[in-house]
Amino acid sequence: MTQFKTLDDLHKVDGGNVHGKVVLVRVDLNLPMQDGAVTDDTRVRAAAPTVLELADAGAKVLLLAHFGRPKGERSSTQSLSMVVSTVESVLGREVMFCPEIYGPVVAQVVGILPPGGIALLENTRFWKGEEANDPELAAAIAANADFYVNDAFSAAHRAHATTEGLAHVLPSFAGRSMEAELVALGKALDHPERPVAAVVGGAKVSSKLDVLRHLVDKVDHLIIGGGMANTFLAARGVAVGKSLCEHDLTATADEIMVNAEKSGCTVHLPYDVAVSKEFAANPASFRVCNVHEVEADEMILDVGPAAVEALADVLKTCRTLVWNGPMGAFEMEPFDTATVALARTAAALTKEGSLISVAGGGDTVAALNLAGVAGDFTYVSTAGGAFLEWMEGRVLPGVAALEA
Ligand code: 3PG
Repeated sequence: MTQFKTLDDLHKVDGGNVHGKVVLVRVDLNLPMQDGAVTDDTRVRAAAPTVLELADAGAKVLLLAHFGRPKGERSSTQSLSMVVSTVESVLGREVMFCPEIYGPVVAQVVGILPPGGIALLENTRFWKGEEANDPELAAAIAANADFYVNDAFSAAHRAHATTEGLAHVLPSFAGRSMEAELVALGKALDHPERPVAAVVGGAKVSSKLDVLRHLVDKVDHLIIGGGMANTFLAARGVAVGKSLCEHDLTATADEIMVNAEKSGCTVHLPYDVAVSKEFAANPASFRVCNVHEVEADEMILDVGPAAVEALADVLKTCRTLVWNGPMGAFEMEPFDTATVALARTAAALTKEGSLISVAGGGDTVAALNLAGVAGDFTYVSTAGGAFLEWMEGRVLPGVAALEA
């Protein structure tokens, strides 16, 4: 695992006194919103310990974050001013909003902020240099600050000025949320307790090819669910009817299964499934059948109960689990059954202390919430794309730049 400095190291700098020092904290405020209101403040809650720790130590905290993809242009609908009240209510502190990210206006804000004060700077992606990782922009932002703390693991797959560039200009540290992510993910795949299982689900093999290729070398059991399992079933000669299936990728699926066998990784595919003629919630008719009994006009929408029971038995033999993606069309009842059942098994094993369970990715967190067990997993990542890139074994530039 990457060696990185944390806030513990920051507290030791200059005799441990950050009082009155200006700390730029990169957080992820790319929050889901509807009609101008934040619908999920998880990422703000994840960043809160770092922000409060620094503010309580008397630092002047400048929050940096992006929102949406405004492509270097100011846009009133993507201003971070929209999330100030959410940030204030999560932190329980007043937060000043600054419509710039560098220059004299930021210097003025720094002058006004008392030690322990917090300001949120404008959406970093309003400046073209952000996504271009322009060193001049990083230097201009850094000019108003003493230290840089990156607490946005979920944006660490982007080599942008505020996620990567700043780490080269200022003394840099991982925030508490970044630290927790790196420790938890390191335990899950870099030096895990074995046996290790990975659950990989979701609609398409094509979006997770690199994840699957990487995992077969790393894990003892690869459990494939969701639409992508159909492509693997088709590769094994199963007729999957009208199911979502990337027939052009069956050779790739085969190659992954051959590599898995060479690495001693057992690939688990469903042998019974829930099928329906309609892609809809609570369809007029659906049935559970063996994978070899899917009719030409039916589609597979979930893993069946016998397979779920067998998969639960696999998890019982494992010490570590990494989960990304649902097992079926979980947003439509009753095709959430396998995802919910397996998530509950994983949560129960975690509570018993026999399993270390790590999950991540947008749909995955939604699925665990639906099962009511997100709080029972050992660690649930706040990241979507960054979690996937980590599962692909890629070096995340925002993490690499923090390397001590
Ligand atoms: C996310 O929401 O996953 C991160 O904030 C990254 O956002 P992006 O995909 O727009 O870079």
